[in-house]
Amino acid sequence: MLRFSIFAFSVFLLCCCKPKQQEQPIQPLVNIVPIPVTVNQTGGFFTLPETVTIAAGSAAEQGVAQFLLDFFSTQGVPAKLTQDSAATIVLRNFVSKEMLPEGYYHMVVNKDGVDIFSTTTSGLFYGVQSLMQLIQAEQNTWKIPTVTITDFPRFAWRGLHLDVCRHFFPVEFIKRYIDLMAQYKFNTFHWHLTEDQGWRIEIKKYPKLATTAAYRKETLIGHYSDQPHKFDGQRYGGYYTQEEIKEVVDYAAKRFITIVPEIEMPGHALAALSAYPHLGCTGGPYEAATLWGVFDDVFCAGKESTFEFLEDVLDEVMALFPGEYIHVGGDECPKTRWEKCTHCQKRIKTEGLHDEHELQSYFITRIEKYLNSKGKKLIGWDEILEGGLAPNAAVMSWRGEEGGIAAAQTGHNVVMSPGFALYFDHYQGEPKDEPVAFGGNTPLKKVYEYDPAPSSLSQEEMGYILGAQANLWTEYIKTTEQAEYMAYPRALALAEVVWSPKENRDWNNFVQRLPHQFMLLDRKNVNYRKPKPEELK
Ligand code: ACM
Ligand code: ZN
Repeated sequence: MLRFSIFAFSVFLLCCCKPKQQEQPIQPLVNIVPIPVTVNQTGGFFTLPETVTIAAGSAAEQGVAQFLLDFFSTQGVPAKLTQDSAATIVLRNFVSKEMLPEGYYHMVVNKDGVDIFSTTTSGLFYGVQSLMQLIQAEQNTWKIPTVTITDFPRFAWRGLHLDVCRHFFPVEFIKRYIDLMAQYKFNTFHWHLTEDQGWRIEIKKYPKLATTAAYRKETLIGHYSDQPHKFDGQRYGGYYTQEEIKEVVDYAAKRFITIVPEIEMPGHALAALSAYPHLGCTGGPYEAATLWGVFDDVFCAGKESTFEFLEDVLDEVMALFPGEYIHVGGDECPKTRWEKCTHCQKRIKTEGLHDEHELQSYFITRIEKYLNSKGKKLIGWDEILEGGLAPNAAVMSWRGEEGGIAAAQTGHNVVMSPGFALYFDHYQGEPKDEPVAFGGNTPLKKVYEYDPAPSSLSQEEMGYILGAQANLWTEYIKTTEQAEYMAYPRALALAEVVWSPKENRDWNNFVQRLPHQFMLLDRKNVNYRKPKPEELK
């Protein structure tokens, strides 16, 4: 196996680009995103027969083969399963004596057809994703460049987040979001389910979370900075039933994507308080927020009833989401109410805490103990470091990388998600040319050039960096089309950051692969943003 060489690849590109025809240029090169670990091209093509046969023996192989059958069906290509090893596409999944990484696959495309070998079902699935990116239409035939690929991921946490609280997105869209994630070998979907502006998950023990907390009376029009604030006067909301959640969890699992649910505490809790006001320090009344921002009314850290409520909620959440991590937020929690609350102040005294920051740490540590007792792990935004990090907590570093670095240095798992590179609610071009967004400036290249492994960490500390994810907050994202516009193509850049070896990453090479990827996104009618030529330099 030849080590993939960016230089050789670029020379090849310069020499071998063909003129445009059909869907997009059929180029004798491998346009896969994220770029695999090693690629060895022989320059020719395998042409698919009129009816494609797929050899898949075990249940795991047949499960993965179904994605190929669905793909061929949408492209109008007759395809069927077979046990015959002389098939067009052979899927082989078996345990190897070699210790190969989770997600590893080896694919050979030659004049006889396609063979994908893996030692894990996820690896077979990723091989099939790569294959589906390679199959291209030309005239009335379908072709695949002949190639040998060996591939496996760099990071274990390859994530995308979606805020469904500021604006609500239907189950069908969540599935589509997950489908696209799978195409680019992401494996973690962070589902931000509770907020000041709406609570989006049915909890059977607390029905008012669905009937009251899931709705706000109106929504801000325009940007927060537009003064005076104007509102639309329209009641807005929605939530997922537990049946819908199960359906999405199952859908994601079939695509080797774990869902990490986020239940925010102690802050960003106004919607919950609107339904159950006794959980706040003042007792309310409260309303779900109609503006964006950070609000003083948060869960009371002094009352036992807060912990009873949250443990009940988490019981139902843990029963729905089989993944190891539960995200508990922990960000942006003002201490204003706690400073004045007799319950909170009593808690500070009885627990021997120094201040409200330590009270937040008490809160998260107590919740962590509960989650750990049920076999789950806690992850929270980097504010959970303040006042002392809970003993087993993982940190999602969003206010830059400092929180993540500090956590890794003290032996805590970390997911990098810094605002300067991985906030997909930020602008990706000149604000004057773009739809209204939160702010910031995160063009495609900035995402591509991000590296989740800070050079200040030792090799051992680096081991705590689980990976990275991008966050899609939806204050200014009202529609599914807009969500896709903000996520793509930046998610392609991130996919390469979290999957591909650092030495294979090359901006110019990535740019050369984009037209093919845009063709793939066009096949699915994805509303991705088309970068301007000057942004691709
Ligand atoms: C955050 O953006 N408040 C985590
Ligand atoms: Zn209180």
